[in-house]
Order: sequence, then structure tokens, then C-alpha cells
Amino acid sequence: MRETRGCERLGRQMKPGRPSFTAEGAAAIRALETLRPLRLRIFEDPYASAFLSRRTRWRTWVGLRLLIERLMERALPGVIPFTVARARWMDDLLVELAPRAEQIVILGAGYDTTFARHPELPRRLAYFEVDHPDTGQAKRARIAARPELFGDSYDKVRSVAVNFERENLIERLGENGFDLGKQTVYVWSGVIPYLERSAVESTLRQLARSASGSHIMADLVAARGLKHKHASRTLRYFKKLGESIRFMMDPEDLKTIIAPVGLHVESVVMGESLREMYFKPEDPRRVSKFAYLVHLRTGSG
Ligand SMILES: C[S@@+](CC[C@H](N)C(=O)[O-])C[C@H]1O[C@@H](n2cnc3c(N)ncnc32)[C@H](O)[C@@H]1O
Repeated sequence: MRETRGCERLGRQMKPGRPSFTAEGAAAIRALETLRPLRLRIFEDPYASAFLSRRTRWRTWVGLRLLIERLMERALPGVIPFTVARARWMDDLLVELAPRAEQIVILGAGYDTTFARHPELPRRLAYFEVDHPDTGQAKRARIAARPELFGDSYDKVRSVAVNFERENLIERLGENGFDLGKQTVYVWSGVIPYLERSAVESTLRQLARSASGSHIMADLVAARGLKHKHASRTLRYFKKLGESIRFMMDPEDLKTIIAPVGLHVESVVMGESLREMYFKPEDPRRVSKFAYLVHLRTGSG
């Protein structure tokens, strides 16, 4: 097993009382993608910029896009294109799976705007967003401040505050109307790498109890990335933000955490494949080969 051991020493996680900065970073990346010329754009999020603070907003000015993208690429090679492709892949799969589901749960939602971007999602579904209390609160405040933008898109969404490292996810969801017996699609984007291994395992164990035929989408960072020359720079970058990378695992080792809880792996998509799937040949962006996506499923349904 090659996951990072002792990553705890990399720093304290999520500063108390402060919403996640990486959540804002992911929203900024989606806002920047929305500014790209249509022919090279692989994802659109017209709501993302509503979540940016003043210190981040200037980075998404249209005239600065190329410069900012270059600086981000130098700081975190391949991570920005991966973040955009991840959003596209999860979006496409969610839209495909939603008609057969009864509930949708966005885990560690950050400033994800799935429910605003997809008014076509069936109205009969129950929608939940789960996040660390500080980030969830900041998100609700920003949505409430822009009624002309968000309209009623979030009226049906139930916000559930959960710290994956300290609380029982299913219990907290249950208190908010979630039904473990109903087929559910879980989107867990950009969260696993920031958690302790015990929190990843315990969350997967809880999700595995969902009705047969439920689906989980998530992304992970491969532990072999630690050998790359930029690895320490990347880890330092996240540590400085106060959101250290604490869990990494190679795709070959996934079975060690997936099989014991009774989940099945539907597919694993490596960063390089995302480039082939979504980016035009003339688009020079490289997608990190150390990050990958997984589609998991419960039961045999
Ligand atoms: C990189 S952001 C990803 C946000 C969003 N899913 C996306 O793809 O844009 C990480 C998210 O994980 C959440 N998070 C980090 N640690 C957490 C924890 N212990 N419990 C609950 N949420 C956590 C943060 O609040 C933040 O929203």
C-alpha cells in the first residue's frame, strides 16, 4: 500500500470559522473555463464567479485569463485542466444516472452549482448538499445575496452540515429527510484527498449501505505522484492554504478500501484519458496523470 502515511504533519486542516479556500479555487477554475473561447471550452459554469471573494475575483478577469492560467499551470501542473475535466465527467454521468435515481447528494459540495446548472434534473428527486459547516454557511449566504442570479434553483436543496472526520454522515442526512433505502447518486468531487484515511474509509462504509443500484463518483490522487519532481511543491501549495493533501492512493490499490465495504468499481478514468475524451487536439492543455476519477456502485442493481 502506498498511500501517504503521516501526512497529518503537513498541517492543520480547514481553519476554524473559515470556509474552504480550495472550494473557492475550484469555483475560480470553473469561472475561468467559462471565459474560454467556445470551441475550446469543455465546461460552463455561469454561477461560479458569484462565490469568489475580492481576493480571488480579479484572477478571473477576462483580460487576465491567459496569464492566470499560465501561472496556475506553473504552480500546479495539470491540476487545473483535471479540475475542469472532472467537473465535466461528473456532470455528464450525473445527468445520465439521475432519471433512474431517487436522491442526489453532493458531498463536500463547496461552491458546486449542479442544481442551478441543471434545471432539467427531475423535480421528483430529493436533493442534498453536504459540506463542512463553515463552507456550507458561506455558500448559502452567497446564494441568498444573489436572488436575481440563482432564482429558485436552490429552494429544493437541503443543506446538511457534516464534518466527515468527526460526524456520522448518514445520521446527519437522515435528520434532514434522506432515505438510505432509496437509490441515490453521490457526487464526491475534490474532497477525498483532503481527508484522513479513516474518514475516507468510514464514509465509503456508510455510502455502501445505500440501496442497491446507488452510484458514487469521486476523484483521488495517485500516491505514485509523490515521486514526481513537482510533488513537494504541490503539497506545500495546499499546506499553505491550510488544506493539506492527506490521502493518496494508486488505482491498483483501490480494492483495499473498496472491496472490504462491499462496493463495486464501475470504472476508473485516469487524467490522460480525460484529455482524449474532452479536449480538442489543438488545445495544448495537459491533464495531470496523477489524478483520476472513480465510479463506484452499490449492490448488483
Ligand atoms: C476542493 S473543495 C471541492 C468543492 C466541490 N466539491 C468542487 O468540486 O468544487 C473541498 C471541499 O471539501 C470540503 N471538506 C474538506 N474537509 C472536510 C471535512 N472534514 N468534512 C466535510 N467537508 C470537508 C470543503 O469544505 C470543500 O467544500
